[in-house]
Amino acid sequence: MGIPQTPARRIADQFADRVRNAPDRHLAERVSRLVAALARLVEEERVDRADLRALIRFLTEVGHASDARRSEWVLLADALGITSLVEAQVTRRPAGATPNTIAGPFYRTGAPKRRDGESISIDGLGDRLVLGLEVADLDGEPVGGARIEVWQANAEGLYENQAPDLQPEQNLRGTYTTGPDGRALVTTVRPKGYAIPHDGPVGELLGRLGLSPERPAHLHFRISRPGFQTLTTHLFDGDDPALGADPLFAVEPALVTRFAPCGAGGYEARHRFILARAHPGREDA
Ligand code: BEZ
Ligand code: FE
Repeated sequence: MGIPQTPARRIADQFADRVRNAPDRHLAERVSRLVAALARLVEEERVDRADLRALIRFLTEVGHASDARRSEWVLLADALGITSLVEAQVTRRPAGATPNTIAGPFYRTGAPKRRDGESISIDGLGDRLVLGLEVADLDGEPVGGARIEVWQANAEGLYENQAPDLQPEQNLRGTYTTGPDGRALVTTVRPKGYAIPHDGPVGELLGRLGLSPERPAHLHFRISRPGFQTLTTHLFDGDDPALGADPLFAVEPALVTRFAPCGAGGYEARHRFILARAHPGREDA
C-alpha cells in the first residue's frame, strides 16, 4: 500500500490530470501549480468556512473598489510585497550593482532636460536639496553620457501629476546627463513621504494589521545609457522614521542616503549609482 493521499494532494493531482490535454499547455501548468500551492496552504492553515467567507468578502470588496482610475488589485499586490518581489526577480542585478525597484504610477516620460546644477523645482516651494550624483560601472569606472531622469513628490508629499492644479506642469521632474566624470548635480527640494491610498479595503487591512500606509520620503530615478541595463530605482531619506516600514518593500540599504543640513535651511547629499552592463542581445530591463 502506498502513502495515503491527503485531500489537498488528491485535488492537486486530479486538477493536473484534468488539464493534461489543455490547448494552452503553459497556462495549464501554471494553474496546476497554483491549485497545488493553494490546496497545500488551505490544508496547512486549516482554513475553515468562516475563513473562506471572509476571504471571498475581502476579494469582492477589492474588486468593487477598482475602476478605470484606481486599481485596488494593484495596490493589494503592492502592499503584499508581490510587486516588489516580481520586480526584483525580473531585474536581478549582479552583486555590487544598484538594486532596481518599482517605478510606481507617477513616472512620466519626457521630463524636461536640465543643465548640470539646474533646479527641477519650478515653484520653489520647500527646503533646497542639492544632490551630487555619480554613475559608475561595476569596476568603479565613471559612466559619462548617462541619462538621469528624476521625479519626486513635493514638500507636501504630492506628485505634480497627482495635483495638476496645485503644481506647475513638470514640477520636480527633470532629465540630466552625466559628464565624462560620471557626475551630475541635481538641485531640488527635500521631498516628504506620503501615504499609499488607504481609503479602501487594502487600507482597512493595513489598519487591522497595525501597518502604516506611509512611504518614507524618497526620490525616483531612471538611469539609462546604451550598453548598460536601465536602472529604475529610489533614493530614500535616511532620517525618515518610516524607513523601516515601507508598505511597498522598496527600501534596501544601498538606496538610503542622508540629507545633511547645509547653508540656510538647505540640505545636501551624495550618492553613487552602479550600473550593470547589458547582456548582448537581451533587452535592457
Ligand atoms: C511611488 O513611489 O511613487 C509609488 C510606487 C508604487 C505605488 C504607489 C506609489
Ligand atoms: Fe514615490
